[in-house]
Amino acid sequence: MLRLAVFLAALAVPLYWLYLAWIVALGPDPGKWLLDHLGQGALVFLLLTLSMTPLSRLTGWPIWMALRRQLGLWTFAYACLHVGAFVLFILDGDLSRLLTELPSRPYVLVGALAFSGLLPLALSSNRWSMRTLGKRWKRLHRLVYLVLVLALLHMLWVVRSDLQQWALYSGIGGCLLLMRTPLIDRWLVQLAAGRRARPRKVANNP
Ligand code: HEM
Repeated sequence: MLRLAVFLAALAVPLYWLYLAWIVALGPDPGKWLLDHLGQGALVFLLLTLSMTPLSRLTGWPIWMALRRQLGLWTFAYACLHVGAFVLFILDGDLSRLLTELPSRPYVLVGALAFSGLLPLALSSNRWSMRTLGKRWKRLHRLVYLVLVLALLHMLWVVRSDLQQWALYSGIGGCLLLMRTPLIDRWLVQLAAGRRARPRKVANNP
């Protein structure tokens, strides 16, 4: 049920933005509006994806891990739409303009690096790849942390002086990265185990 709700919400957002574009409600530069919001959408989904493992450690509920793959794929889908918006609205559909645009938009290279990190993650997010790659799958998927750092750097380069939103995303991203360090990861598991054991103790000693 939760998985369906996430799917419908993630699908509804860009459709709603398209509707706003259709009724000319996206301001003077709808292309840039869509480009920026799709970029932010990709980053938000990336942060949500990364929060699934800590949530699973804390609560012990299997639903978080079941959601992780879908959220990761939505990150990739939003990133694809973001890149598509860049090609359509900034390059006017003409890929040969990329070389002339690059000197004035060097942050595009960092975005492209982040995107090329997302690609193998999305392609290997199926059970077959998990089974075939074995331990290497986990190692490959650690790439997600580098993607996060690159995406935050890409955004910082774009927003430069307007740092409020960037600081929020970076703060959340920093906490999530910290939670994956062995020390804090172990502490989360112990915390959850302690919380699960407590009601049993009460039941044993009425
Ligand atoms: C080939 C890959 C990419 C290209 C060409 C690209 C290009 C761009 C461009 C042109 C902008 C807008 C600059 C402006 O407002 O003047 C932008 C902004 C942004 N991009 Fe990317 N990007 C790429 C990958 C990514 C990825 C993978 C992510 C996240 C996972 C991302 C997240 C963002 C964010 C958060 C912004 C800032 C939006 C804002 O202004 O609020 N981008 N990108």
